[in-house]
Amino acid sequence: MNGLGRMMLGMAAALWVMPGASFGADADIPHIVENHGRHALVVDGAPFLILGAQVNNSSAWPAALPRVWPAMEALGVNTVEIPVGWEQIEPEEGRFDFTIVDTLLEQARARNLRLVLLWFATWKNTNPQYAPRWVKLDNRRFPRMVRPDGTLHYALSPFGAETLKADSKAFAALMRHLREVDPQNTVIMMQVQNEAGSYGLARDHSRAAEAAFAAPVPEALRRRMNKPAGNWATLFGRDADLYFHAWHVARYIDAVAAAGKAQKALPMYANAALPGDPFTWQDAKSYASGGPANTVIDVYKAAAPHLDLVAPDIYNPAHKAYTGFLAAYDRPDNALFVPETGHAREYARFFFEAVGRGAIGWAPFGVDYTRYLPVFPATPKLEGQPIVPFAANNALFRPIGRLWAKLALGGQTWGAAEPEDPAEGHRRVLRLGRHTATVSFGSSDFGDGAPKGNAYPSGGVAIARLAPDEYLVTGYFARVEFGLADAGAANLILDRVEEGTYDAQGNWQFARVWNGDQVDWGLNFTGAPQMLRVKLATYPTKQE
Ligand code: DGJ
Repeated sequence: MNGLGRMMLGMAAALWVMPGASFGADADIPHIVENHGRHALVVDGAPFLILGAQVNNSSAWPAALPRVWPAMEALGVNTVEIPVGWEQIEPEEGRFDFTIVDTLLEQARARNLRLVLLWFATWKNTNPQYAPRWVKLDNRRFPRMVRPDGTLHYALSPFGAETLKADSKAFAALMRHLREVDPQNTVIMMQVQNEAGSYGLARDHSRAAEAAFAAPVPEALRRRMNKPAGNWATLFGRDADLYFHAWHVARYIDAVAAAGKAQKALPMYANAALPGDPFTWQDAKSYASGGPANTVIDVYKAAAPHLDLVAPDIYNPAHKAYTGFLAAYDRPDNALFVPETGHAREYARFFFEAVGRGAIGWAPFGVDYTRYLPVFPATPKLEGQPIVPFAANNALFRPIGRLWAKLALGGQTWGAAEPEDPAEGHRRVLRLGRHTATVSFGSSDFGDGAPKGNAYPSGGVAIARLAPDEYLVTGYFARVEFGLADAGAANLILDRVEEGTYDAQGNWQFARVWNGDQVDWGLNFTGAPQMLRVKLATYPTKQE
């Protein structure tokens, strides 16, 4: 073996071991690990990529499940996100019924699927509709938020001490049940509440809330945000109501998560209904004030140490906004996870951008056959081939999910999705350290004319470094051309481009070599599921 080969093998071995990342620390229970600001969800002792889907809100009932599983199978997911409503498990106070949880576990296991359970309780899209009747009809014991004029708002108040007690008790009971009946961790993660906060009112104005609003801002938040002592209005100005509400909602969710973790310490997260875009200031009344929106991630980090992460529900298909939201949640102190995204076909491409950033998972919403929403399954035709783009993504990634998650933890992955706005252009350049990858969308088959974009924004590419000069490259409807970051240093050539796939044991299965037209105009990905291993080499620019 030559020196380069040995070096590549050495690098591959280093990536597999990943010094500093202790996958095995608590191999029995799923957990999040961090490595130099990158993350992985560890399941069964090794990094795991959630290829997910979220079912419709009313699908977690035995009568609906027969219309859930076939859709999951068609999509080829490995994880299903599915609600457990407080009203389902505690219809009368103190009487718990976990039949639905047991049904979900049994039916998921029979299909070799993992679950993320969504705790719909005090807040579901901010409102208490999933709280049991004995909660949502008792406004004295479980108070709603109050408007400045004294009228009642629909959302439950984060200052409701009894509400917090009751919600925590029910969630703890659910987690205790999982501890007892799910030693194999079919459930790998818990979502605590759903899109918490309130619409149309930035914060509670009840007596308790008003007193807290006049009080000094808690030190933990001041320290994180580098603020001197002061009250909410003086420290946060026009965002005072938003920050105040986020703090109290986050403290509430944290207490619920803590009660659950004391029973079974699965990873837990809270999801956010987002503002219209991540770039411009927006009045808190225009989105779910108090939830873990991109505007208040620091508040959640200070207030909710029992949450492993906060996560964006992304329903804006514009490339700029979507990637802006991904960037906002992809932080050294926050593992990126997209628990919900739109299921219209143009969302599918963002899978590549998310996993390229090292997301621990990604899931389109509302993709079962209960037919509440009419647009799934979509079979758009591209280049004459019908494709279900979400299923196509999973088909590519199912064999490499664990490998990918491990490489992402090591900071060795990149991704790009096609912009739809001509102003952004139809090319993206990924900087891979010594190399670059220019990804273009809508290029002609032969020739290097300017790319025009695909018929609709459908292109996506994911690249992982396997060794210093070797990459795993895959995607749809895109062209990839490698270059050197220091373009004048040498001439870059393709040493070998292998098409193949990985088997269930993680071994590369070689199929054929791409050469000639298949590489002369860049590496062209169509609607066919194709995976390449690309070895690069250089020769000098001048005669030696
Ligand atoms: C976001 C919520 O979190 C989901 O439960 C669902 O209501 C979707 N919106 C519908 O678009």
